[in-house]
Amino acid sequence: MVDVILGLQWGDEGKGKIVDYFAKNYDVIARFQGGPNAGHTLYVGDKKIVLHQIPSGIFHADKINLIGNGVVLDVVTLKRECEAVAAFGVDYKQNLYISERAHLILPTHRALDKASELSKGNDKIGSTLKGIGPTYMDKTGRNGLRVGDLLDKNFTTQYIKLRMKHQRLLDNFNFQEDITHWEEEFFEAIEFLKCLKIVNGEYFINEKINKGMRVLAEGAQGSMLDVDFGTFPFVTSSNTISAGVCSGLGIAPQKIKEIIGITKAYCTRVGSGPFPTELMDDKGDFLRNTGNEFGSTTGRPRRCGWIDLVALNFACMINGVTQIVMTKADILDELEELMVCKSYTINGKETTEVPFQMNRMQIEAVYQSFKGWNKNISAVSSYENMPGEMKVYIDFINTYLGVPVKYISNGPGREQIVSA
Ligand code: GDP
Ligand code: IMO
Ligand code: MG
Repeated sequence: MVDVILGLQWGDEGKGKIVDYFAKNYDVIARFQGGPNAGHTLYVGDKKIVLHQIPSGIFHADKINLIGNGVVLDVVTLKRECEAVAAFGVDYKQNLYISERAHLILPTHRALDKASELSKGNDKIGSTLKGIGPTYMDKTGRNGLRVGDLLDKNFTTQYIKLRMKHQRLLDNFNFQEDITHWEEEFFEAIEFLKCLKIVNGEYFINEKINKGMRVLAEGAQGSMLDVDFGTFPFVTSSNTISAGVCSGLGIAPQKIKEIIGITKAYCTRVGSGPFPTELMDDKGDFLRNTGNEFGSTTGRPRRCGWIDLVALNFACMINGVTQIVMTKADILDELEELMVCKSYTINGKETTEVPFQMNRMQIEAVYQSFKGWNKNISAVSSYENMPGEMKVYIDFINTYLGVPVKYISNGPGREQIVSA
């Protein structure tokens, strides 16, 4: 049996914290897509750690953590991260498994990401520059190298061939950067990777499922960054939605049970692209400063705005969300008034549907106003003791989405979560 935790907005919903919290109920925690563009923050005691490649179950000593075939792997980041978690006493050599089918991010992929962004001028995607797009392009273009390839004696020859291909592309971009140092690190990390548990992920996970073990699939990014359904072209290059679990781990759809969608109590986005409920005023600054909304991977300030139920409803539909976790409710504590976007006005017409091309349209968010709770909720440990104004806010969201908000997270700490 497989449950899924994934983001319903534009990423950074708090997936890392929530996966770490729920991991105790599972045997296997598996990442199914994305790569080091992800930054999943969790707290171990009072120490903060941000994971980019390793699943967020790694701090539970008795759990298996799998990097699935749908992930793109930066071995240098992985090596660094393994060393970082080892400092917390994690036995990654024991608990971490990597699918041989996961594609490798090469130094030239990172250079190509940078070159491509530079060539776009004012139309930049705002990529994390981790090489995600070019690596997935090589996957679908049938050129890429996979983790399993490094056990082949021809690995270096294959690497050089691909590197030459990439060099020609870089020359076309007129991009010049000495990547010798990146390559040295890459080959060092490749040797490190050879010492980890490289497995046939699809047999590995299906055997576990057939034995009755419980799997938690951990999404990266968010549904509005999905390559098919997000705000294209301002998206990432993978399927971030629940369908990606099947192709990203090699499991059948009927094995999936709960789809747990994470949303913030408001909304953020990092990078370019449409964001109908964005606040460009002091309220946006308030959310950014109070919520410490600065990227976990790149440190960039996140754009902030009100919760967008049109986009959330769309995300619930395409994912089949069965329950919602709302994070960062505590960030709204001091606000007198809360706004909820319940429809868009596009060319004078009101709609509750996400349009085909959000970025070429003038979308005006239509709001309903709610009274803020004006109370510090960070130490509240039961829903019963949550302010009435919050219950009104949550009830409206439940009714609109037709999916229950089952948990409310009221602080970054491991145990700051309340069952609704
Ligand atoms: P992810 O990419 O979805 O895992 O999210 P990030 O880790 O990039 O960003 C979420 C940020 O919010 C992190 O700094 C978390 O520590 C923090 N966080 C998560 N849940 C809560 C919450 O309920 N309240 C507060 N104040 N912070 C939270
Ligand atoms: P987590 O898992 C927020 C955004 C980038 C950019 C776009 C494409 O922490 O939620 P990419 O590097 O993937 O080619 O960038 O997607 N992006 C994220 N935004 N959280 C993430 O991951 C993101 N991963 C990518 O900012 O706009
Ligand atoms: Mg993040």
